[in-house]
Amino acid sequence: MKPATMELLSNRWVDWLNDPDVVKFSNQRNRRHTLESQREFITAKLADPASRLFGIFLAGEHIGMAELGNIDTRRCSAEVRYLIGEKKLWGQGIASFAVQKIIEESVRMKFVNLLEAGAAPQNVGSIRVLEKNGFDFVEQRNEISWFAKKIKNF
Ligand SMILES: CC(C)(COP(=O)(O)OP(=O)(O)OC[C@H]1O[C@@H](n2cnc3c(N)ncnc32)[C@H](O)[C@@H]1OP(=O)(O)O)[C@@H](O)C(=O)NCCC(=O)NCCS
Repeated sequence: MKPATMELLSNRWVDWLNDPDVVKFSNQRNRRHTLESQREFITAKLADPASRLFGIFLAGEHIGMAELGNIDTRRCSAEVRYLIGEKKLWGQGIASFAVQKIIEESVRMKFVNLLEAGAAPQNVGSIRVLEKNGFDFVEQRNEISWFAKKIKNF
């Protein structure tokens, strides 16, 4: 995993977001994505102190994204998000590994002691990724299942 830069901008990333299988459990499915919309997205994320965006790579190829978002220094919390865009790579443990790396990143930040993540209740794979990484179900809110994990940072 590498911190995101403008170099991640590609048609491949745009194609993932326009693929109904990839976004079927996300609000992203209701929008048409373009290189320009992704440029705006990444520009905003790079400028946002409450976000750390990462590219996920396999053998040098960009295959997905992960984010520590909604970083809240008062609540000492952050939200974990992830997407493996290359469908042929699903089910090989990549998202589980990426979330493990995101957890390690949150520990390095020192002040984060609560990680949260939301998934559509039907997104069995995503929920499994969270459970495998020690997240517990907290509540159902706005049709999303919310999970949390306490982080020891001392
Ligand atoms: C959901 C997603 C992140 C899973 O990524 P992945 O790399 O395939 O996940 P892993 O290989 O680490 O799988 C973790 C576990 O979930 C299981 N799993 C993955 N996809 C599954 C599916 N569709 N149905 C049932 N189980 C699934 C795996 O078998 C594995 O379980 P196991 O270790 O007990 O065998 C990936 O499919 C994806 O990016 N989808 C589109 C975007 C998305 O939904 N992001 C999450 C938003 S909350």
